[in-house]
Amino acid sequence: MSPLVTVIALIFIVGFAAWWLLIDTEGVYLGKRVVIWLYDVYASRYDNIKQYDDVEEHLYLAQPLLAKLPATDPMVLDVATGTGRLPLALCQHARFEGHIIGVELSRKMITQAAEKIANEHFHEYVTLLWADGTALPFPDDSFDVVTCMEALEFMPEPKAALDEIIRVLRSGGLLLTTRRINAYMPSRLWEEKEMADMLAERGIVGATFQTWHTDYELVWGQKAGHSPYIGVIPPHEVMHCPRCQQQAILDEDSAWRCSNCNLVVPCGTDGVVEVMRAK
Ligand SMILES: C[S@@+](CC[C@H](N)C(=O)[O-])C[C@H]1O[C@@H](n2cnc3c(N)ncnc32)[C@H](O)[C@@H]1O
Repeated sequence: MSPLVTVIALIFIVGFAAWWLLIDTEGVYLGKRVVIWLYDVYASRYDNIKQYDDVEEHLYLAQPLLAKLPATDPMVLDVATGTGRLPLALCQHARFEGHIIGVELSRKMITQAAEKIANEHFHEYVTLLWADGTALPFPDDSFDVVTCMEALEFMPEPKAALDEIIRVLRSGGLLLTTRRINAYMPSRLWEEKEMADMLAERGIVGATFQTWHTDYELVWGQKAGHSPYIGVIPPHEVMHCPRCQQQAILDEDSAWRCSNCNLVVPCGTDGVVEVMRAK
């Protein structure tokens, strides 16, 4: 092979590898920092790229979710909330009276979410936390509904992320997540049967898979057992202290503070509770 052909082949291979690792699989094989850095880079363009449609979001997310609940005021956790897609869909539903805590690790993605929530005057219904969805600062069984849309495959260990998401869902509570399809992401994606088994092993009963977008199916399930419906409670009262784990958080002017160990969790000027800056 001539040196020129070798150089061209090498450029092609390196270019293809870079495209696959950074664009096609969005950094998942390069670690959490790269994933979050890429979402930071794309945050201001994310909504333009995704082109969510309000009517579809209402018909396929907000409406069926509320229809599966016994009341209209659930305590909801949305893990990897991105630019606030699920909180916005629920808040735009005329009957929603609950509260959503959106957790997101990309500060720039959650900044976009905060801007949209503010523009629509939905503060009363949504609290945004800059935090890691794989180490949720909540006790077990804290939410009526836990959602995690289009995100499990981007977490460092998707199965461990699922454990964590299910841990904070109360027994009898509703799980809504997604299954990625039509993509090549070795060890990150599951067939329906595999995912159903995995959910069952983790205490989720009645998992159902619903056709949705070209890249994702919706996955609904319920955590086995029964426990009382929670309903709206002040969001700082749900959180436990990321340091001492006590449920003793006070909502002060520009920060949340643990009354047990004095850890301060600052709030950004956009109202985002910055667990990543707690000290
Ligand atoms: C494809 S986006 C989906 C966002 C949103 N759920 C939606 O449906 O539009 C994936 C999101 O997962 C977030 N993410 C990835 N790893 C995370 C982690 N460990 N904790 C919290 N968020 C994470 C990314 O920053 C990104 O916003």
